[in-house]
Amino acid sequence: MNKILVTGGTGYIGSHTVVELFNAGYTPVIVDNLSNSNIKILDQIERIIGVRPEFHQLDLCDENKTREFVRSQSGITGVIHFAASKAVGESVADPLKYYHNNFFSLLNLLNSYRDTPVNFVFSSSCTVYGEPDTLPVTESAPVKKATSPYGNTKQIAEEILSETALAYNNYNIIALRYFNPVGAHDTALIGELPNGVPQNLLPFITQTAIGKREKLTVFGNDYDTPDGSCIRDYIHVVDLAKAHVAAINLLEKGNPNGRYDVFNIGTGNGYSVIEAISAFEKAAGQKLNYTFGPRREGDIIKVWGDVTKSSKELNWTAQLGIDEMMASAWAWEKYLKDNPIL
Ligand code: NAD
Ligand code: WQD
Repeated sequence: MNKILVTGGTGYIGSHTVVELFNAGYTPVIVDNLSNSNIKILDQIERIIGVRPEFHQLDLCDENKTREFVRSQSGITGVIHFAASKAVGESVADPLKYYHNNFFSLLNLLNSYRDTPVNFVFSSSCTVYGEPDTLPVTESAPVKKATSPYGNTKQIAEEILSETALAYNNYNIIALRYFNPVGAHDTALIGELPNGVPQNLLPFITQTAIGKREKLTVFGNDYDTPDGSCIRDYIHVVDLAKAHVAAINLLEKGNPNGRYDVFNIGTGNGYSVIEAISAFEKAAGQKLNYTFGPRREGDIIKVWGDVTKSSKELNWTAQLGIDEMMASAWAWEKYLKDNPIL
């Protein structure tokens, strides 16, 4: 079966996608520089699928090594490009790190495939919509000016990719706009490994419940939403991983929409922070220590996706709901406590 190159394949979403690619009959080949992941994730993947995936430690910002690597490979028909720096706050403090890593890695990869037909799936984000004017937000909604260098890298990367697909005929590209990925594999052998104090809601909830953090602060309960807290479209990471397999499948068949396309990847349902906490408490069977605090600067108030296009054209819909997201995130946090080696 076809080989698929997974950049950032030892990271959070990449590792789950490696598992789903394998389950779908593809042969995943991982490259990662391990700047935000742990090599032991390879052992964990092997424990899930029974095979050790091919792994290459490579910094995609190294142009020569990236070109040499691509030339040395045969049989790769598709690339799923996860590798990037992703912390919004850090991108504000250190924008050059984000522009350097996220653009050089993308450009080196695209240039390395300049003479080869390739199906290319890119990790984009609902951050491109900013605060949408209409909900659920569709793929045709305007892209709003980014509020962080990280968000800007996703917007500009989408432009780079659409112009690349238009100008050269060897690239067939899909950008997936993820909503909020959460949860972990149902074996609890892989999941999110946040670096330092988590900035995202779910790892902060699970780390609080396990006792690593004293309490969660809900950032604002006076927004114009039913319970006053912000609303997001949380998507189970295993469903998200399967969306990448669906995107590769569509590109392999030939996408009737042309050589560049974008899809929303969410459940289509919005949950408030307070609803997410309640769902966690139910799944974990314990109360969470939380308090209400001030709004977080720059937060989007409410966003959830219209997933009609991905359902019809990608032939993909999310199967797992908020209860599975919370239960799997909690099982993973407990696994990490018992297996601190990770
Ligand atoms: P992650 O940090 O867990 O995974 C990214 C992986 O890429 C890491 O293993 C890291 O070591 C690797 N990497 C980074 N720079 C590299 C380079 N120059 N060369 C080789 N490897 C490199 O992040 P994730 O949550 O799995 O996110 C994957 C992608 O999805 C990213 O592009 C991210 O921006 C995007 N995304 C993530 C979210 C989210 O909330 N997690 C939401 C929307 C989009
Ligand atoms: C979710 C909700 C917070 C932490 C960020 C990036 C975005 C995307 C996903 C990649 C919000 C609230 C959080 C806490 C809280 N990544 N919250 N207390 O804001 O949707 O987006 O991650 O592309 O680009 O900006 O996700 O998990 O940070 O927050 O109350 O300690 O939880 O205010 O309402 P967000 P998040």
